[in-house]
Amino acid sequence: MALFLILLLLFATTILAQIPRPAAQCSGYRATNIHEDVSYMTADLILIDNCSLHSKDIQNLRLLVEYQTEARLHVLIEDAQKEVYQVQEHVLPRPKTQNVTANDAALKFSFTQDPFTFNITRPSTGDVLFDTSDSPLNFESQYVRVRTSLPQNPNLYGLGEHSDDFRLPTSGYRRTFWNAESPFIPNHANLYGSHPVYFDHRGESGTHGVFLLNSNGMDIIIDKTESGQQYLEYNAIGGVLDFYFVAGPQPAEVSKQYAEIVGLPAMMPYWTFGFHQCKYGWSTIDHVAEVVANYSAAGIPLEVVWGDIDYMEEKRDFSTDPSRYPLDRVRALVDNLHQNNQHYIQILDPGIRRLDSYGPYTRGAEKRAFLRASDGSFYRGMQWPGEVVWPDWFTPGTQDWWTSEILSFYNRSTGIDVDGLWVDMNEASNMCGDMNCLTSASTIITTAVGKNPHQPPPLPPHHRRQTTPPRKTGHKLGLPDRDLLSPTYPIASHRGPLSAFTLYTNVTNADGSHQYDTHNLYGSMMSAATRRALLTRTPRKRPFVLTRSTFAGVAAHAAHWFGDNASTWDHYRTAIRQLLGAAAVQAMPMVGSDVCGFNGEAEEKMCARWALMAAFQPFYRNHADVSAPDQEFYRWPLVGEAARKAVGVRYRLLDYLYTAMWRASEQGRAVVSPLWFGYPGDEATWGVQTQWFLGEALLVSPVVDDDSQTVRYYLPKDVWYDFWTGEKVVSAGEMKRVEGVAWTDIPVHIKGGSIVPMRANSANTTAELRKQNFVITVAPGADGTARGELYLDDGESLDVGDKKSVITMNWNGKAVEASGTFGYDTDVVVERVVVLGDGGSRTQEGPWGLRKAFTLHL
Ligand code: NOJ
Repeated sequence: MALFLILLLLFATTILAQIPRPAAQCSGYRATNIHEDVSYMTADLILIDNCSLHSKDIQNLRLLVEYQTEARLHVLIEDAQKEVYQVQEHVLPRPKTQNVTANDAALKFSFTQDPFTFNITRPSTGDVLFDTSDSPLNFESQYVRVRTSLPQNPNLYGLGEHSDDFRLPTSGYRRTFWNAESPFIPNHANLYGSHPVYFDHRGESGTHGVFLLNSNGMDIIIDKTESGQQYLEYNAIGGVLDFYFVAGPQPAEVSKQYAEIVGLPAMMPYWTFGFHQCKYGWSTIDHVAEVVANYSAAGIPLEVVWGDIDYMEEKRDFSTDPSRYPLDRVRALVDNLHQNNQHYIQILDPGIRRLDSYGPYTRGAEKRAFLRASDGSFYRGMQWPGEVVWPDWFTPGTQDWWTSEILSFYNRSTGIDVDGLWVDMNEASNMCGDMNCLTSASTIITTAVGKNPHQPPPLPPHHRRQTTPPRKTGHKLGLPDRDLLSPTYPIASHRGPLSAFTLYTNVTNADGSHQYDTHNLYGSMMSAATRRALLTRTPRKRPFVLTRSTFAGVAAHAAHWFGDNASTWDHYRTAIRQLLGAAAVQAMPMVGSDVCGFNGEAEEKMCARWALMAAFQPFYRNHADVSAPDQEFYRWPLVGEAARKAVGVRYRLLDYLYTAMWRASEQGRAVVSPLWFGYPGDEATWGVQTQWFLGEALLVSPVVDDDSQTVRYYLPKDVWYDFWTGEKVVSAGEMKRVEGVAWTDIPVHIKGGSIVPMRANSANTTAELRKQNFVITVAPGADGTARGELYLDDGESLDVGDKKSVITMNWNGKAVEASGTFGYDTDVVVERVVVLGDGGSRTQEGPWGLRKAFTLHL
């Protein structure tokens, strides 16, 4: 591993040194033909002088500015011919404009005409949020640059997926966007997903968000000029400048406004919030059965069992290994799981084994489902099963084929009755390390960690260069005559050239676009296709898809885990930063890391801490690599104890979490948020990246130091209650230091002013949990009041119609008034109310039914 990291470091250093710093001498564009209306403006932008820093200047651009909503401003700068690639509408549907009057909008667009520069201001405070006046625009065929000046030391968050600080560094920092298989999730590197959105938090004067809807490879640089001016600069190797600015001003509103652009997250089934166990390396079905039995014996609830590629015959999708995972035995295991109200999920990879005797390949070939090289043959590469072809998600034939393979392999009567699907390696990851497939990922990993799980033979050189067919203007599918393999501006992908370890970027998709432009969409498109397939299989139930590779908007289709981390304390902490970035900024609520770490050997105390911490994160799955020892929670006494407590409390809080998820899917409200979302004016919260709010009421502050029993956490000025003891803590805005935190403990506080609904008891499965009654915990704020919410439905229907209850609870110091809608019919009741307070808690026994409004007097 050390060698692998050194190689990565060397590569990163070389790339850094090579980055040509574009001189700011280009003159940019002049705005003419300006048309201003109450809710939009348009202009032509004409190139002033040739500059061609890295490729050909585009002479004529078109500007469109739309005041889409009071809080959302859209600025699109595209080529006048509309040939430059733009993300297809069917891949990421655009939000509709409501055409508000500029005067009513919270953001204002202003510009200079010659050269054309623009800025975005917040009229209510006079703040300049985005300002390109220091540096005219570059818009070339393979290089697009725009730079905004920023105030000194800005608080910027987002630009995921990365493993760096949650509050981004402000000098010498670069974020590269190029989805890549990223073993050990290195820092300062592009990882599996691309989300070109950042939040800029300016304390009391507000938070805003900036989203560049562009899927092309890019580097975003945050740095200072020689004269000390702070800036953020986009350097994209294609695409258009399609900006969305959202006004907040509250941080939580920015999250919602961003989710409205990219699509609200899909509502998750109730059971997916249970505890999941996975492992690469369960070599037989017996091994899986043992794990299930061991969890049961250890008294740790296990909701979902996962099947990694071990189940496959020669690692091919849609197959089971006849001796290690015979189909009838897998079916029996799944039946057994289902009888016990447990669930089963399997993995699928996009690389399809190229073999004439392999049905999924021949049927896909018939449907023209695979990407092609210019000679008409299928574009080939290397993946787990050996030589593979890849689905081309841009053709309807691929969806038909993918759906029909899923319907047949996962047929309930004859196949494997999965409850969800896991799509992996979809960056797309290619084990061919270079252009001729002469080096492979396994060679590199072998050198680094001394293992070689798969050793594909090199492929013969394969002609892949594509020519672009002549097309009409206005297609937005990409300019012709570009160097689609080696653009002059080299983005700093940690995997090397654009095509290394992935699909060659000159490959043409079925609609005429190229991988060069669409690479970052591959995983999201596979997720969407898989979701659609599951919907065809079970039309009325919410599908569950977990994806590794993502692009903005993916949460409408799938959940995400943070990929191949390591079993280290460092990655335990990284998991919190990644959670904050994904859930609070990128509108991806159903996320989590491989609990206890994927690579390497997990250590008992670390795994105990991780089991506890992850219980307070939305997606809760323990998973490890084939080379790592088994790390199920029951394998160590301490971890077993921590896990029983962790899963137990998570289950009691499951409806609280589910309610937060429902709000996210309805309105985009973040399920997880950083401290500063709750206390935007408190500067001490801005850099906190080891604590998070789960929902709006629970503040989680785990021990984060290696092997430590001491925790330091920040409690903003407010009233808090210790979640475990109910003890009231009034903080003046203080760092707290607690020593001797047991290995089975995690500090959690309830924010004063909240009402937290909990199940009275935990259960072995979420199905049993749903039968438990509720306890309502009231945590009064400084003014003595509190509020909360409880959402109930059947936990699985795609469209619950009015069969749902949305119950708002308000505490006025004497009683909890519960009102709202009560469409979900249930026998479950509120059996107790507990009001926390100075001299301990007060309790009132119920029951109160949940079929109509009720008042709980104390
Ligand atoms: C890579 C994934 O990131 C990992 O989670 C999985 O176990 C392996 N592929 C094998 O499928």
